[in-house]
Amino acid sequence: MASYTGQVATIHRQFNAAIKKAKSRQAVLNAYWKHKAQHERLLKQHLKEEMAQVNRVVWMKEVYRILKKSGSMYVFSGWNNLKDILTALDDNNFTTINHIIWKYQFGVVTSKKFVTSHYHCLFVCKDAKKRKFFPYSRFKKNAKTSDGKSLHYQDKEDVWSIKREYWTGDDKTPTKLPAEVIKKILHYSSQKNDLVLDPFLGSGQVAVVSKMLGRKYLGFEIVKSYYNFTVKRLRKNVYRLKKEA
Ligand SMILES: C[S@@+](CC[C@H](N)C(=O)[O-])C[C@H]1O[C@@H](n2cnc3c(N)ncnc32)[C@H](O)[C@@H]1O
Repeated sequence: MASYTGQVATIHRQFNAAIKKAKSRQAVLNAYWKHKAQHERLLKQHLKEEMAQVNRVVWMKEVYRILKKSGSMYVFSGWNNLKDILTALDDNNFTTINHIIWKYQFGVVTSKKFVTSHYHCLFVCKDAKKRKFFPYSRFKKNAKTSDGKSLHYQDKEDVWSIKREYWTGDDKTPTKLPAEVIKKILHYSSQKNDLVLDPFLGSGQVAVVSKMLGRKYLGFEIVKSYYNFTVKRLRKNVYRLKKEA
């Protein structure tokens, strides 16, 4: 779609052409009312998009402020928001370490384009010299797959094929990361008793998995029922909760 400024330039061209062509005072006024309505529509849409852009990135300043120099951050994004996220990471002085692709199964079937079956995960830090990484936390240096390949290398590639979790018959929120993705992140970038923050808890996956792995956790969730769901999972010490009849 054309940019806001491009669209504004187009309606001004159309307006100028219309008043040149107008044969009466009324025709000029009509052209103006049409132009004004188009202008207002475009501005309203533009301000809405700008607000959405601000909301997508405004939290990053606060995360940068509280992140330890030895810590790191993983930000998940679909391709449609990626541009804003990358710009905000740069604007907030984060250093990019890796651009990971999380490849999942069963994207939505399409007939006119390719099926989206991945998320971008940006692995970034505040201080490239002080950040911690634990390369052998999951596989020893010499661990091999059954066909003799290095497990350690394979696990550290930046494309992660990990299945989504389907919680049929259980309580859930609309979006959640699979525990396997979170475990991998926590093992490589934290140790027991470290503090893990998820500013967008959703179903509380990050907090629940952090607890399972002996990390401390902290988080925010704006939807009360999701927050309650997270608290219930943490208090009961269970990963999945059966739907109450
Ligand atoms: C994609 S989900 C989170 C998934 C979760 N981090 C996980 O690992 O499974 C995003 C969540 O952020 C919450 N949210 C959106 N804006 C928020 C805000 N300003 N403060 C706190 N939570 C917010 C939404 O309600 C939603 O549950």
